[in-house]
Amino acid sequence: MSGHNVWTHKGTFLLAAVGSAVGLGNLWRFPYLTGENGGGAFILIYALTIFAVGIPILIAETMLGRTSRQSPIMGMRHLTKTHKTSRAWESIGWLGAASAFLILSFYSVIAGWALHYTWLMLTGSLVGADAATISAGFDALLASPGLMTLYHTLFIAFSALIVGMGIHKGIESGLRIMMPALFVILIVVLIYGVINGDVRAAASFLFTFNIADLSLEGWLQAMGQSFFTLSLGMGAIMAYGAYMSSEASLTRTAIAVAFVDTAVAMVAGLAIFSLVFGAGLETGQGPGLMFVTLPLAFADMPFGALVGGVFFILVLGAAISSSISLIEPVAAFLVERFDMTRPQAVTIMVVAAWAMGLLTVVSFNIWAEGTLFHALFGRSAFEFIELLTNIFMPLGGLMIALFAGWALTQNEVMKELGTNITWFKTWRFLVRFVGPAAVSFVFLRTIPQVEGYVVPTLGALLIVGIFALSQRLRKSA
Ligand code: TRP
Repeated sequence: MSGHNVWTHKGTFLLAAVGSAVGLGNLWRFPYLTGENGGGAFILIYALTIFAVGIPILIAETMLGRTSRQSPIMGMRHLTKTHKTSRAWESIGWLGAASAFLILSFYSVIAGWALHYTWLMLTGSLVGADAATISAGFDALLASPGLMTLYHTLFIAFSALIVGMGIHKGIESGLRIMMPALFVILIVVLIYGVINGDVRAAASFLFTFNIADLSLEGWLQAMGQSFFTLSLGMGAIMAYGAYMSSEASLTRTAIAVAFVDTAVAMVAGLAIFSLVFGAGLETGQGPGLMFVTLPLAFADMPFGALVGGVFFILVLGAAISSSISLIEPVAAFLVERFDMTRPQAVTIMVVAAWAMGLLTVVSFNIWAEGTLFHALFGRSAFEFIELLTNIFMPLGGLMIALFAGWALTQNEVMKELGTNITWFKTWRFLVRFVGPAAVSFVFLRTIPQVEGYVVPTLGALLIVGIFALSQRLRKSA
């Protein structure tokens, strides 16, 4: 129907989805949030949401893309018409576009930091440096809005160039080499961490939990992170699903993506925290965690400048393949809806996200405190944007789950999923009830007034119950 083409290889969706999923979320955000939230309990909630909620929703989101074969907003518009549901479901597309824009704005700034460290590594500037020097260097970067803006601009312009020229096909072959290489080098850092750091302390920090340690907002952050790391709930996967060949297995692909993504995050976490405990650094130091600990290891490692340089180049590659997937859904929408050319659409999206990114840049220096954001929300603009994405993505995922679970017909879903009826029933139960209940539970639990477990549990059951009932009524009417 639309001008959408389908990827030539069956495996391309998997590669693109892994490229989108594996990125700064695994290497930078996962370790830093885990460190701020005290370790094990955070990981427990994160892992539970990935496997019980994330995988089924990943399947649902891909399915919506593949059946509609359009960009998320237009695709949802199409599906609401063909399935005679309320137009309100189209908000899945709009909410996703808003999240993509918010995420890209800060993603590019952080990727800019990686650009800075690539440079420092390759010039050998940090060889032999100690922890104090390295963290002072990081603070100096944060203190310089000009430098951060420069890197931010470079990164976002480069991503835009790739999407604008429609050359992500060329990236495919690059990803095939870069992803495994990134994993190998992470293992090298982990081995270094095991020898020179404190892997026991790291493992006990990451894998022993006391659920009471997790703050209310920690629950939201853990759930938000599990959506973030899978690129879920905002249309990126839907946009890629639209190009996915009809033969590829949704279930196997989704499980593979979640598995690879989690493996990368775990290896990165173990490596980083081995170094943190070995060097007596702070676990809760915030967004700078990866950018202080890893250069410290490279400063001391044999051939560290080279290994570190290659590492940060691979981090940039992983970040680019993720940022492409943030630009794609919005750009595809602008092209389909307003008949723009690809370069025009990409330019609009990226210039807007770039400008918004300046808020993140100044959150680390001139607007680090005392702004309107601090007065209203008790946090910087960057932290506020992160909070919004932690809400928007699970909310988008919740709606995707409900729509795929209730609006799509059994025939359609069976055609997409393959023929196994037991798996169909399990999956539908997961997206109809389990996913929505889990997301509602975490949302309710995060509200300070309903702290505890009983009220949020009952509330979540109530929400899903009402929803289920309304669907029954609709069908029998
Ligand atoms: N998943 C990516 C990461 O972990 C970030 C990302 C890329 C993303 N595309 C997305 C997050 C779409 C949410 C939605 O780095």
